[in-house]
Amino acid sequence: MKPTVKPKNPCFSSGPCAKRPGWSLDALKGAVLGRSHRGKQGKNALAEVIERSKALLEMPKDYLLGIVPASDTGAIEMAMWSLLGERGVDVFAWESFGSTWAADCKKQLKLKDLRVFEAGYGKIPDFKQADWSRDVIFTWNGTTSGVKVPSGDWIADDRQGLSICDATSAVFAMPMPWGKLDVVTWSWQKVMGGEGAHGMIALSPRAVKRLETYTPAWPLPKIFQMSKGGKLIDGIFKGETINTPSMLCVEDALDGLKWGEKAGGLKGLVARSQANLKAMEAWASKAGWIGFLAETPETRSNTSVCLKITDPWYAGLSAEEQEKGAKKIASLLEAEGVAFDIGAYRDAPAGLRIWAGATVETSDLEALFPWLDWAWNEVKSSSAKAA
Ligand SMILES: Cc1ncc(COP(=O)(O)O)c(C=O)c1O
Repeated sequence: MKPTVKPKNPCFSSGPCAKRPGWSLDALKGAVLGRSHRGKQGKNALAEVIERSKALLEMPKDYLLGIVPASDTGAIEMAMWSLLGERGVDVFAWESFGSTWAADCKKQLKLKDLRVFEAGYGKIPDFKQADWSRDVIFTWNGTTSGVKVPSGDWIADDRQGLSICDATSAVFAMPMPWGKLDVVTWSWQKVMGGEGAHGMIALSPRAVKRLETYTPAWPLPKIFQMSKGGKLIDGIFKGETINTPSMLCVEDALDGLKWGEKAGGLKGLVARSQANLKAMEAWASKAGWIGFLAETPETRSNTSVCLKITDPWYAGLSAEEQEKGAKKIASLLEAEGVAFDIGAYRDAPAGLRIWAGATVETSDLEALFPWLDWAWNEVKSSSAKAA
């Protein structure tokens, strides 16, 4: 039977993610619009995003945080282009985005001393292989496989290289071991439900030192430049953006941060996301037809939860039929207006991906579960009829 109760908010996309509970366009009323972002008000708003983010994320006082162009990709590539080449590089990759950063190192930067440690969807590479005399690049939460780094214990405290971490679908939902991370990047449209376009880059004192003492051999476009003549461009870390930001997005980012503060700060945000994963685990084990793509529970993402269909009938289908079935579940639910954008990422194995970050209400997930069971039954029974 078709369920009757629908989630209040059907937005379960893994980016842009659901707006915070209670959000409306009114939240943007205070935006500094039609004014220069370099004027006092504009600059103050940008600096406020930096300061509130640092406080909410409990970042060490000696770390710098800047707002940069081109979302998370802009932030991580800016770090790679600015910092790499000084020593050997290790890249750990286990899904689409990590593989993109590995390809950047290999094909674009053409690093000579490069080691890439890869694992397939659902798995995680062996971090013990990291050599901390080298720079190490990795993604904290693999958004397209739902596999996260379980802890930072493998990152050496006495490392000589830099640890460079793409944490876009992790920050604000997973605790970050800041002292183990030299570069951390993210964007606004993930856990805090902000708008896309802008990137954030956090730098440890060691990363700043590298910027001030090393000049890469390749050309650096203006939007990647964080230092000039051996000195950090410190304005970037005080709200003097490299180029023009959207002040509407800035206002929205501030709204999200203020909501996060009221939702119990970092602890509260992490707890909201973890409660969502717990609810999904309870449902999946009862449902019996679905499980997690992440092979071990400690690597199971609590934001981009990737699910695979484990039912024996489905497992016996061809890869093409499996993909069709999973897509049908997503499209049935979209048509019913109960879940938007929950299909697996295009390069990932067939399945579903449901965002469970802090802006998602557990009650909305709970309303979604009966619909997932219903859609699954529709797919399975219509296929049995056709056969
Ligand atoms: C882990 C990861 N890295 C990078 C990106 C690209 O982010 P953006 O579109 O903000 O550049 C994404 C987007 O989903 C992501 O999940």
